[in-house]
Amino acid sequence: MDLTIQIPRPDDWHVHLRDGAMLDAVIGYTANRFRYAMIMPNLTTPVSTVRQAERYRERILRAASEQTPDFQPLMTLYCSSELDSSDLLFGYEAGIIKAVKYYPAGATTNSSYGGNNILDFIELFEVMAENNIPLLVHAESTDPQIDLFDREAAFLEGELHPLCEQLPKLQVTVEHISTRAGVDFVLNYPHVAASVTPHHLSRNRSDLLTPEFHPDLFCKPIINSESDRKAIVDIVTTGNPSFFLGTDSAPHPISEKYGEEAKAGIFNAAYGLEVVAEIFAEEEKLENFPAFVSKNGAAFYGYEPSSSQLLLTREQVELDLAAMLSTSDGQQVVLFGLEEASHWTVTAI
Ligand code: DOR
Ligand code: ZN
Repeated sequence: MDLTIQIPRPDDWHVHLRDGAMLDAVIGYTANRFRYAMIMPNLTTPVSTVRQAERYRERILRAASEQTPDFQPLMTLYCSSELDSSDLLFGYEAGIIKAVKYYPAGATTNSSYGGNNILDFIELFEVMAENNIPLLVHAESTDPQIDLFDREAAFLEGELHPLCEQLPKLQVTVEHISTRAGVDFVLNYPHVAASVTPHHLSRNRSDLLTPEFHPDLFCKPIINSESDRKAIVDIVTTGNPSFFLGTDSAPHPISEKYGEEAKAGIFNAAYGLEVVAEIFAEEEKLENFPAFVSKNGAAFYGYEPSSSQLLLTREQVELDLAAMLSTSDGQQVVLFGLEEASHWTVTAI
């Protein structure tokens, strides 16, 4: 199929840019393609204060200085006992902080400063609800008794449901939904939305686990069943305004993906947009692609879509693309989505 679509420059509502040499190596992929990027705060030392967020923002902008002027990092603070609500309010009112990110302790990379139960932070969330500060949630139970593939549903039922009942006006994003339970949860609450990743839209747990475990597809929450994938594809391809792209692009060097313990995270900033375009094209719903990648998230967070445009063209020919990136300190990172991207060209117009 040969196809063409023009879209407002997309936004990435969930991305890990890291720091230092890794930040330098990955920034161009996000900054050349996306307008806004919601920056995750799970650095080795979490971004917990406005001052830390300001400094991190400066490092990001310095690393991005060669890139498009459209790019703007939107900063978040890490929800932990270190987070001070008056500092948060100051940062939000000053326009430096856009949201707070909650991690269950132990759920994923650099989450050890997170919470044991989201309801423990109810007083902070009351302040956030009163001031319209969005809460971004990694929705995954860490209870070892619960099957790995049921942990999103368990968290939604056991922790996020009571929170949303208690604070119905709190603006919540269920990050990187991975199950039908996630889709159903979001559809139940007017102030709740979901970010969705290219990998949860395009891969299932059979891809992850057969014929052997693929560390390059290992992320948290874990990629789930084909029926879960299909439920997510079905809702996002309608253009439903409660669902939008958050790549969860999360680079780890191959030494840490293929080491003794595979680190969770998939680096998809390079080709994630093409992976999503391919899904919408296969479903013959390309007309709803701009809503998902360029409009719904902006509307949810109170922005207009970008006035600059990208043109995506699908061709039969296979382009020759890079499969890895290298950092200046000698690390390599695998690029997700090479196969899909080899059929698409993306140009700014
Ligand atoms: O797979 C993941 N990787 N999920 C997360 O929530 C964090 C991320 C990372 O920072 O590596
Ligand atoms: Zn993430």
